[in-house]
Amino acid sequence: MLEDIDRILIDEETIRRELRRLAAELVKSFKGRDLLVVAVLKGSCVFASDLIRLLPLPLSLEFLAASSYGDGTESRGTVSLRFFSDDLRLAGRSILLVDDILDTGRTLKAVKDRLLEMGVDAVKTCVFLDKAARRAVDLQADFRCFEVEDVFVVGYGLDYAGRYRNLPYIASLRPEVYGGTSENPA
Ligand code: XMP
Repeated sequence: MLEDIDRILIDEETIRRELRRLAAELVKSFKGRDLLVVAVLKGSCVFASDLIRLLPLPLSLEFLAASSYGDGTESRGTVSLRFFSDDLRLAGRSILLVDDILDTGRTLKAVKDRLLEMGVDAVKTCVFLDKAARRAVDLQADFRCFEVEDVFVVGYGLDYAGRYRNLPYIASLRPEVYGGTSENPA
């Protein structure tokens, strides 16, 4: 696995530091509110797990699965949502929607719109990475850790073909791994 890595873009210490900064910002924003953290599977699992342990707030955690990618690396523009609780209570709660990466923005926008349709008053978005150069819809993250260049990245929950999620840092892969030479493989 490690031989597939081209470059480490964000190392573990930098991630830890930025998470502490983000957590302080979130504590200020959500203090005294009934906070529901909704983590988008699977990519945000590592980010969400690390983040909630830095939030000394009464909160609940919910997961949802949004499918927009298969084994490839291009967003298809449509998402289907799946929740994991039958008794999900959304009304009147402050939702923090957590995702791994904001790329074209289609996934997070579709999820956010669906939550609003379900009667949520307000949804704030929180992403670990922001690939701002690739945005295709009008959506900015309310909270984010890092902006990244337009390179396909893995690690810290992000995968390629289901692998590399367990890398503790953010890295790019050698082009041979995905059989291409472009910066953002199709
Ligand atoms: P959109 O384009 O809808 O896509 O914002 C968001 C989802 O696409 C995946 N994605 C990536 N996954 N490395 C990954 O491992 C990347 O560089 C990358 N860019 C987008 C990711 O699942 C994200 O939630």
